[in-house]
Amino acid sequence: MTLYDVSIVGTGSALPDTVITNSDLEKLVDTNDEWIFTRTGIRERRRLRDDQPVTDIAVQAAKRAIESAGIDPTEIDLIIAASITADLIFPPLACMVQREIGASNAAAFDTNAVCAGFLFALVQGSQFLQTGAYKTALIIAAEGLTRYVDYTDRNSCILFGDGAGAAILRATPQQGKRKGLIDFDLGSDGTRVNVAICPRPSAPKEWLDTLTDRDEVTPYIWQDGRAMFKAAINGMTDSVKRILTRQELPAEQIDWLVPHQANLRIIEAVGERVGIPSDRVALSLEEYGNTSAASMAITLDKWMRLGHIQPGNRIMFTAFAGGLSWGSALFQM
Ligand SMILES: CC(C)(COP(=O)(O)OP(=O)(O)OC[C@H]1O[C@@H](n2cnc3c(N)ncnc32)[C@H](O)[C@@H]1OP(=O)(O)O)[C@@H](O)C(=O)NCCC(=O)NCCS
Repeated sequence: MTLYDVSIVGTGSALPDTVITNSDLEKLVDTNDEWIFTRTGIRERRRLRDDQPVTDIAVQAAKRAIESAGIDPTEIDLIIAASITADLIFPPLACMVQREIGASNAAAFDTNAVCAGFLFALVQGSQFLQTGAYKTALIIAAEGLTRYVDYTDRNSCILFGDGAGAAILRATPQQGKRKGLIDFDLGSDGTRVNVAICPRPSAPKEWLDTLTDRDEVTPYIWQDGRAMFKAAINGMTDSVKRILTRQELPAEQIDWLVPHQANLRIIEAVGERVGIPSDRVALSLEEYGNTSAASMAITLDKWMRLGHIQPGNRIMFTAFAGGLSWGSALFQM
């Protein structure tokens, strides 16, 4: 059987225009710019207009990725959208994007791995391409998190923002030295749902109350910040190290770490523990905050467009999420 290399051949992103600054949040909860910036690294995040669907930014990001890859939408065989905040329960966000971009030859579905959604979708899409089943895939991550944020909870409302990112994956028959997706590591621990949770308003209340030891579970994003903080550092560090060990690759040979953007202190701790210094870490946290699944995709696009990521570079993606879930993926660009 011929095996295929799977490369990222285009990226795009889209951010809503409305900016929420730290001083805007000072008016809502007992917090301040200095606390937020020093504890998280975030200065601003974006917010969708009330009349703007998540689908809108997902479509914009997808169109930009298609343009940067220089392909026609009809060449796309597969669309996977990662989101926890899609506008509709169904049809899937992936089908809504398909409808707008004219990717009439694609199979389309959604995937949910919360903040690790783009990473899981990248790996998932790559499987279809590595086997030769499909040639071209569009991977999208788009979120409207501000619609699920409790703006009385200073622990969480300071972190989250809205945005979308996308990437085009392409398969080419393997010859000689491997390129594209080299290795990945994914994992989950469903016994730890109590660390971060956001129920649908329709979930049975009595059952929800058995999932956490909180007094009441509300239909907003809730997290145990400290538990998430520790789990994220350990989870991403271990995951990256598993790949480096398996590939017998010293950390010096990773050109860029592209991590999920949750908290600068988490990112710095992971970089330090795996041996990748901060000048080789891609960031978009300061201007966009945590956009869950979209954050890694937005950061990738930013780093590509800035010209930081060059052909031949080795990129290590890593993410951590509610679930709990985590993962990393090594790409040779
Ligand atoms: C949420 C988070 C920023 C809190 O930062 P932290 O340094 O862990 O802060 P702590 O929770 O230990 O709280 C320290 C103090 O700051 C206070 N505090 C919390 N949020 C605050 C805010 N927005 N402004 C001012 N003070 C705040 C706390 O009440 C606490 O006060 P106390 O010492 O009097 O009790 C951090 O834990 C974090 O980023 N966690 C991971 C989040 C994440 O990855 N989420 C994604 C999952 S979906």
